[in-house]
Amino acid sequence: MQIDPTSTAVPEVYQYLVGIVTPRPIAWVTTLSPTGVVNLAPFSFFNAFGANPPIVVFSPTLRRDGTKKDTLLNVEKLGEFVIHTAVAPQAEKVNLTAKEIPHDESEVALAGLTTVPSLKVRPPRLKEAPVAMECVVKQIIYCGTGPIAANLVIGEVVMLHIADEVLDGKGGVDPRKLKTVARLGGAFWCHTSDLFEQTRP
Ligand SMILES: Cc1cc2nc3c(=O)[nH]c(=O)nc-3n(C[C@H](O)[C@H](O)[C@H](O)COP(=O)(O)O)c2cc1C
Repeated sequence: MQIDPTSTAVPEVYQYLVGIVTPRPIAWVTTLSPTGVVNLAPFSFFNAFGANPPIVVFSPTLRRDGTKKDTLLNVEKLGEFVIHTAVAPQAEKVNLTAKEIPHDESEVALAGLTTVPSLKVRPPRLKEAPVAMECVVKQIIYCGTGPIAANLVIGEVVMLHIADEVLDGKGGVDPRKLKTVARLGGAFWCHTSDLFEQTRP
């Protein structure tokens, strides 16, 4: 089968794309609205792209009606955000915070979570999350104007928080303790418990 995106409906292209590019880590992002409401939402169009300086990118796409999501509006205005990578014990709450709620309501309360102040940015971080990255917007690249168009939010990580409980004893992060979860196509998610090691040649 071949798919030419130029002659295929956008929702179909989206389904193929998210079915093929798997598994995708999930950024659980806190942002702050101009009126001080803490917004929380998951984004699996997400990854890290370099370490000098440390760079992460995620994409709050345009909604199906072409409007901007709250997260994008907030990062455009404030230029700061915090990313927590989604982990297994909180998978249900991560999913819950994908709910579309009014701009002046917080998904933090909806999911029964709490926040603590960040050190270098104004949006707070989730107290319950084992890892958090405080980020400052470096650039936003707008890739289209229609439904599900990408908006690449490029952020520089200015502070990392890592809970002692997920460390491996040598100062590194132990994947067996962090237990990140990831997103595939449709309603599929996966655990990172089926690990294997390979040494680099
Ligand atoms: C696991 C998961 C991953 C998601 N990934 C994305 C994504 O990469 N980009 C996106 O625009 N929406 C994504 N969504 C949907 C958003 O979380 C959802 O539209 C949310 O309501 C946006 O919130 P906001 O309007 O408060 O920014 C995802 C949802 C889930 C459950």
